[in-house]
Amino acid sequence: MVSGGGSRFISSGLYLFLFGFVSLVSLHAQAATKKYQFDVQVNNVSRLCHAKPIVTVNGRFPGPTIYAREGDRVVINVSNHAQYNMSIHWHGLKQYANGWADGPAYITQCPIQTGSSYVYDFNVTGQRGTLWWHAHILWLRATVYGAIVILPQQGTPYPFPKPDGEQVLVFGEWWHGDVEDIVKQGNAMGLPPNMSDAHTINGKTWPTLSMLRKTYVCHGSRASAPGRYFMAVRPFQDVPIPVDNKTATAILQYKGIPNTVLPSLPQLPLPNDTAFALTYNDKLRSLNSHNFPANVPLKVDRNLFVTIGLGKSVCPTCVNGTRLSASLNNITFVMPQTGLLQAHYLKIKGVFTSDFPDKPPKAFNYTGAPLTANLFTSHGTRLSKIAFNSTVELVIQDTNLLSVESHPFHLHGYNFFVVGTGTGNFDPAKDPAKYNLVDPPERNTVGVPTGGWSAIRFRADNPGVWFFHCHLELHTGWGLKTAFVVEDGPGKDQAVRPPPKDLPSC
Ligand SMILES: *[C@@H]1O[C@H](CO)[C@@H](O)[C@H](O)[C@H]1NC(C)=O
Ligand SMILES: *[C@@H]1O[C@H](CO)[C@@H](O)[C@H](O)[C@H]1NC(C)=O
Ligand SMILES: *[C@@H]1O[C@H](CO)[C@@H](O)[C@H](O)[C@H]1NC(C)=O
Ligand SMILES: *[C@@H]1O[C@H](CO)[C@@H](O)[C@H](O)[C@H]1NC(C)=O
Ligand SMILES: *[C@@H]1O[C@H](CO)[C@@H](O)[C@H](O)[C@H]1NC(C)=O
Ligand SMILES: *[C@@H]1O[C@H](CO)[C@@H](O)[C@H](O)[C@H]1NC(C)=O
Ligand SMILES: *[C@@H]1O[C@H](CO)[C@@H](O)[C@H](O)[C@H]1NC(C)=O
Ligand SMILES: *[C@@H]1O[C@H](CO)[C@@H](O)[C@H](O)[C@H]1NC(C)=O
Ligand SMILES: *[C@@H]1O[C@H](CO)[C@@H](O)[C@H](O)[C@H]1NC(C)=O
Ligand SMILES: *[C@@H]1O[C@H](CO)[C@@H](O)[C@H](O)[C@H]1NC(C)=O
Ligand SMILES: *[C@@H]1O[C@H](CO)[C@@H](O)[C@H](O)[C@H]1NC(C)=O
Repeated sequence: MVSGGGSRFISSGLYLFLFGFVSLVSLHAQAATKKYQFDVQVNNVSRLCHAKPIVTVNGRFPGPTIYAREGDRVVINVSNHAQYNMSIHWHGLKQYANGWADGPAYITQCPIQTGSSYVYDFNVTGQRGTLWWHAHILWLRATVYGAIVILPQQGTPYPFPKPDGEQVLVFGEWWHGDVEDIVKQGNAMGLPPNMSDAHTINGKTWPTLSMLRKTYVCHGSRASAPGRYFMAVRPFQDVPIPVDNKTATAILQYKGIPNTVLPSLPQLPLPNDTAFALTYNDKLRSLNSHNFPANVPLKVDRNLFVTIGLGKSVCPTCVNGTRLSASLNNITFVMPQTGLLQAHYLKIKGVFTSDFPDKPPKAFNYTGAPLTANLFTSHGTRLSKIAFNSTVELVIQDTNLLSVESHPFHLHGYNFFVVGTGTGNFDPAKDPAKYNLVDPPERNTVGVPTGGWSAIRFRADNPGVWFFHCHLELHTGWGLKTAFVVEDGPGKDQAVRPPPKDLPSC
């Protein structure tokens, strides 16, 4: 397997992917409350002969898998015993009117401070599949992460043949050193931090996954004859930026097959095989079936066009007096000191402005020759205000400011449809005619191709403040982020819920 999603990763770009295989076996009757206790604590862990203390949940790395059925209520008490501030994001959960349980620090909540707890309480509504959870503060998601498996409601069949078992795979990165120290060092110089030393599958560099019976759903295909098989994963990168290009492998072993059977390593595409990655992405479709319709907005109320820029910011203590930074529509996002959702809900002035522009301040040949002359940006905590239940089209355009590169963009609070993607500059006169408005993939993260663009559509029916950012931790830290303020609707259940009593304060 190559890392999917059309997302390309750069060094120390801290990423994770996962997918799961779920079993149909179920004895649960109706909506239930699933309770979890997450004790955030420091434990010594050793990989590749390098031992170090890491932040974990319940001493486990990766952390526990959350299992729920569509319609369930999930209640997770996160108790912070580590020396860092903490917050946890339930990645891909829609959190209807309930941004308080979304997790990104200083966007929807203040951090859970050392010695404190916060209960994330949410309903799983209108979605099923395998998602994940991770720390959403500093670079703590390097070790604080795990899977979320949402089974369909009782009586709703899977859209694929019934498997005999399940196996969750979570991909990650491993640094021999302390990740927070490494990031601090990079930030102090204004440069990318040291790249990771290895990639992991389920927290290990060489796990063996035992298979009990024959039929497992594995990445959309069935494993063939019982035996031992190598699985391999490594990043994709099609621009000359150094990356940790090491391959992580796992062995899939059927029960009863002796260890003496030697698996062979699958041939992977080249790390820079752009055509392979784009072709793979082009094949992704929604089910668009009776049970799982693709409700793609056909009429657009609001057109947004956002450019991705790399650039620099003034930093007197950094090498050459500047640090690398990044921007959307030439705005480098400045983190607030308090949660944006609180500021919105309580109408606190001076925390953010709602004037994020619908298009870049000046048009240029976005993907032409590299632009290196003036890489400075403007800075601000600027958000876009979106009317409740309006339909939004958002085109995300890569640029050659400093360098083209691909970026995995994640939107909180929503699934969206990826209606189109292409290389070069988006052409508003021609490209929309080529959109897939029938069965486009429904996602929470979209890969913007190197020197290209992606167009997404969604209906803004979830009120709140929703973070929108590049999912490479390095780029998020450099300011490649903003947020949408989706206004309340007129109905009683169309307004942001009141905050929970234990919501942390800053
Ligand atoms: C981790 O190992 C170090 C060195 O062996 C030891 O001093 C420390 O107490 C251990 N920490 C934990 C949380 O076990
Ligand atoms: C959360 O966990 C902490 C630490 O174990 C505990 O003190 C607290 O009572 C728990 N909160 C709830 C609401 O269960
Ligand atoms: C979850 O659903 C229940 C039942 O409809 C409702 O009472 C509760 O307020 C919901 N909680 C959240 C956080 O949406
Ligand atoms: C980063 O890498 C450099 C060069 O290998 C090394 O000297 C430095 O100690 C590393 N930084 C940290 C924080 O581990
Ligand atoms: C992997 O990265 C190293 C160091 O940047 C480089 O020397 C090597 O050629 C790369 N290997 C591949 C297969 O790209
Ligand atoms: C991809 O990498 C290979 C080996 O490093 C190199 O020979 C080739 O030119 C690269 N292809 C592109 C399209 O950059
Ligand atoms: C600092 O500036 C010099 C001269 O322009 C350049 O060669 C060097 O790469 C720069 N270093 C960094 C870290 O930006
Ligand atoms: C943009 O730049 C590319 C590469 O230099 C060039 O081929 C293209 O014609 C330019 N487009 C426009 C509209 O100037
Ligand atoms: C970005 O903003 C800075 C500061 O206002 C300006 O100097 C620069 O020209 C702008 N760049 C682009 C690409 O709009
Ligand atoms: C949003 O608008 C659609 C289309 O007009 C409508 O069918 C739907 O009921 C509206 N949803 C809400 C929550 O108001
Ligand atoms: C933890 O968060 C609080 C509230 O935002 C902040 O005042 C404090 O400085 C943070 N502590 C650290 C170590 O960053």
